[in-house]
Amino acid sequence: MNRPLQPPQAGPHHPRRKGSWRTLSGLRALVTGGSSGVGAAVAAELCRCGVQVLATARRTEALEQVAQSAAAVGLFPLRTLAGDITQPEFRALVVAEARKLLGGIDIVVAAAGSGAIGPFSSADPQTLRQIMEIDFFAPAELVRACLPSLSESPDPAIVLVGSILGSHPLPLHTEYCAAKSALHSLAGSLRVELAPAGIDVALARLGPTQSAFWENLLRGEKPVWSRGPTMTSAAAAAAIVAGLRKRRLDIVPGWTAKGYCFAARFCPRLIDAVVTRRLRLSR
Ligand SMILES: NC(=O)c1ccc[n+]([C@@H]2O[C@H](COP(=O)([O-])OP(=O)(O)OC[C@H]3O[C@@H](n4cnc5c(N)ncnc54)[C@H](OP(=O)(O)O)[C@@H]3O)[C@@H](O)[C@H]2O)c1
Repeated sequence: MNRPLQPPQAGPHHPRRKGSWRTLSGLRALVTGGSSGVGAAVAAELCRCGVQVLATARRTEALEQVAQSAAAVGLFPLRTLAGDITQPEFRALVVAEARKLLGGIDIVVAAAGSGAIGPFSSADPQTLRQIMEIDFFAPAELVRACLPSLSESPDPAIVLVGSILGSHPLPLHTEYCAAKSALHSLAGSLRVELAPAGIDVALARLGPTQSAFWENLLRGEKPVWSRGPTMTSAAAAAAIVAGLRKRRLDIVPGWTAKGYCFAARFCPRLIDAVVTRRLRLSR
């Protein structure tokens, strides 16, 4: 059951065909945040595409449920490992287990994340540190730990799950926006740095998505402007997996997210004006 399949071979026999779509079947993926929402849906979707997946998160039971549902659609059993991804020892264990159980790592999807809402002035400094740990340091250091494995892969890819708020920040999301914007920068820098090694670095900029995100906030509650239309985690995951297949490096699922990113680029002050007005009206 735990015996790894023959890993895909790198080198001249399996040259990286960067012009063509990526064949996902037979690849091996590590997915964080695999116990719920987008991470769970990505893990299940990759399984459905014939990818061998190791999914991680802290909650063992939730991970097992995801593995059970994936068993109905996947070619391979979804492997799970429970632990806190902000801990360096757990990250080292995850990488070692991926090598042992899957035989290597071709794809890393860093979806684990958490939010916090509320005025920065009254927030506990610890909240900023916690958010930076889960939303920035953990994915950054996981990627670093995975690089030796990825460099042995015939067709390696990293997907960092960011947010449209990393492209233009909103008030009361200060810690989260700062962490996601740092993650976006990391993706941009690594994308160029790792291109000569053939490692694709994609950024998924998600908009409002149905998940347990708002129940798991480290602080505060869903603000008024986040109560509009949302997309399902399954739809966001399908866009991420399609992006992997099509070698997209900027994945923006859905029209709400696309519209926000367009406004963030071409008329950022308009977003500020709309949000300031809604903030004033909500008081
Ligand atoms: N939902 C949205 O509207 C939205 C919008 C933009 C971007 N995003 C991003 O999408 C990603 C996925 O979020 P989601 O919406 O799917 O929320 P979610 O349902 O709350 O999922 C978050 C996942 O992260 C895991 N996690 C949190 N802290 C962890 C830790 N310290 N160690 C290990 N795993 C941890 C959780 O598992 P455990 O609790 O079991 O550890 C869970 O599997 C996040 O990066 C989020 O920032 C979400």
